[in-house]
Amino acid sequence: MKVETIAVLTSGGDAPGMNTCVRAVVRSACAYKMKVIAVKNGLQGLIDGDFKEFGARDVAGIVHKGGTILGTARSKEFRTKRGRKKAAKNIQNAGIDALVIIGGDGSFRGGYELNKDFGIPFVGLPGTIDNDMYGTDFTIGFDTAVNTAVDAIDKIRDTAESHHRLFFVEVMGRHSGAIAVEAAIAGGAELALIPEVTTDIDALANSIVAQKKAGKKSAIIIVAEGDDAGSATEISDKVYKLIGFKGKVCVLGHIQRGGHPSARDRVLASRLGIAAVKTLKSGKSNVLVGEIKGDTALTPVTTVVRKKKKADMKKERFVRLLGT
Ligand code: F6P
Repeated sequence: MKVETIAVLTSGGDAPGMNTCVRAVVRSACAYKMKVIAVKNGLQGLIDGDFKEFGARDVAGIVHKGGTILGTARSKEFRTKRGRKKAAKNIQNAGIDALVIIGGDGSFRGGYELNKDFGIPFVGLPGTIDNDMYGTDFTIGFDTAVNTAVDAIDKIRDTAESHHRLFFVEVMGRHSGAIAVEAAIAGGAELALIPEVTTDIDALANSIVAQKKAGKKSAIIIVAEGDDAGSATEISDKVYKLIGFKGKVCVLGHIQRGGHPSARDRVLASRLGIAAVKTLKSGKSNVLVGEIKGDTALTPVTTVVRKKKKADMKKERFVRLLGT
């Protein structure tokens, strides 16, 4: 397969570093004399035929910008074969040989379905704050999101210590506790409640009481939004019912998705963007281009869609050990 024209898109929840990655894809493709089509609004843009040819200058001044200049979406229509058929037609009519999809799990699955049904080659680049994609140690946006959460936790700690309060801080991660665990270690939290571990409310309430007795004047418990015991508010209410001790709740929400990407995310995004273009140039496709143990790694699409990456359980134990 000779790839002369590629299309690039960002899809799913935005993540800091997506722009840096788009820039890397466009500039390296231009260096290889490929034609680049930018697709607006993710996979939905393929259905709508929302295409624009991009050159190296079109990605100037975005290396440091949060969000995505291409726009993004979670397309319901793309989940239907009818929607994908429309997309395939637009792709073929525009003379696009292969796609570069920057996004999370769902976006990658979309690329896989499109390839399965209509044979459109693609490479996936891991762009999500959740760090839950198989085939890469880190996703683009994760480092920035963790730093944003830690910055907020540091501020919450100031007021928690001053008022001797208990705080439940909710971070993102519908299916993964990766942000929660990392932010809890770096923020010195007492505990991290994550979807990968069943939360025992009685044990949680008892540990809060025990820590208070042991002399702790304040405590911060990080709750991943996907925890099985509920949201931070629900968990706080359940604990209150058991021990009559009211925790304050702070939901960090979408601030974790915005802001300038960290240097680490920018370097990762640049490196993987270049690798994606090189992969297509060498005739390979239908892989996730990730980073494993410091090296660029290609993982076949069929493996990525079958497997799920969980939060690092060793790190989860660090939280419990250090939060005593
Ligand atoms: O996939 C990234 C993510 O930020 C998750 O952590 C979160 O659950 C979800 O997106 C929220 O998505 P939205 O509010 O954009 O639908």
